[in-house]
Amino acid sequence: MSKLLSPTQVGPFPIAHRVVLAPLTRMRAEAGAIPGDLMVEYYSQRTSRGGFMISEATIAAPDGSGYLGSPGLHDDRQVAGWKKVTDAVHAKGGVIFAQLYHAGRQSNAQLQPGGKAPIGPSEIAHGGVAYTEAGWVPNTPNRALTVAEIHALVESFRSAAQRAQDAGFDGVELHAANGYLFDQFLQDGSNKRTDEYGGSFENRFRFLREVTAAVISIWGTDRVAVRLAPSGTFGDMSDTNPQGLFTYVVQELSKLHIGYLHLIEPRVIGNSDDESADPNPVASELLRKHFKGTIISAGGFTALSAEAILQASDADLVAFGRHFVSNPDLPDRFRHGWPLNAYVRDSFFGGTEVGYTDYPFYRETAKAA
Ligand SMILES: Cc1cc2nc3c(=O)[nH]c(=O)nc-3n(C[C@H](O)[C@H](O)[C@H](O)COP(=O)(O)O)c2cc1C
Repeated sequence: MSKLLSPTQVGPFPIAHRVVLAPLTRMRAEAGAIPGDLMVEYYSQRTSRGGFMISEATIAAPDGSGYLGSPGLHDDRQVAGWKKVTDAVHAKGGVIFAQLYHAGRQSNAQLQPGGKAPIGPSEIAHGGVAYTEAGWVPNTPNRALTVAEIHALVESFRSAAQRAQDAGFDGVELHAANGYLFDQFLQDGSNKRTDEYGGSFENRFRFLREVTAAVISIWGTDRVAVRLAPSGTFGDMSDTNPQGLFTYVVQELSKLHIGYLHLIEPRVIGNSDDESADPNPVASELLRKHFKGTIISAGGFTALSAEAILQASDADLVAFGRHFVSNPDLPDRFRHGWPLNAYVRDSFFGGTEVGYTDYPFYRETAKAA
């Protein structure tokens, strides 16, 4: 039997197999960033008994959106929508964490309360696009947060973590990858602050450390996780010493005894199909030595390469993104060696049920044939 399909544990939860639903922004929430029935159907389809799932990036503060149609947990009205999702997942025996995020500078004024400038650690020109009523538009130049505003954001995350609990999630993952607000603080290409939130590794990690502690105050250590993209460049990210920085961050997270660490291998550039020439995982192999706990690895995996990283013990579970978009029954397909549906990139972000909940299960295809 393959290791990929063997049981394990995540935090306090026994997990039946190691094929994780990666966090996937699909931008199908209803007005007010509230999950509706379509999202309930989508998550329900991707639930397997004892399977581990992570929600799409969910906005933790009113100024945290980078994509219209993303759901939130910054408003009490969003809780009931999410409760329907978690109830559907639990009814089928799944375990689901909420991924909490703030887009920071990766946003446009059209998405901001009062049409104000997006916020970030420092004012630095950068590229990237946001999704608004007008479609994909360039990010608006951001302004730098004050220290008082950073403290307020920590409290926003604490409240969002409480709402995640009220909504029936099993835990929370902080999205500190892919160039969003936490990553903007961590990497020195986007953080030029000279106060206690900039400069040394310790200072650049401070915001993530404070939010992690705040979220732990609601959930306890073993139901809190952090996702990192060491050396990720999506969102114009860069760092002068990524290996030193991410080693430090992982060592510190290890001391906090979080439930798991989620790593994206740098060979994947954002969610694009352009993968770097190096097919081999590097982040998990390097950082495994510094994290005493469960590691979920993601980024360009197939069933074969996932099995290899698990056999090498560089990761404990593997998250799948694009294959899970188009294969709601992905664990079953891996178990039986069934072929995979191809994903359609055009329907990744926003739209209707097309390219969202209409990918067939293998058993349906087989019946029709
Ligand atoms: C449509 C799409 C949406 C994504 N949204 C998120 C997200 O909300 N949060 C996140 O951490 N990563 C997000 N990612 C990155 C995936 O979680 C994953 O790391 C990436 O797709 C690489 O894995 P894969 O090769 O299995 O697709 C997204 C990727 C895709 C394709």
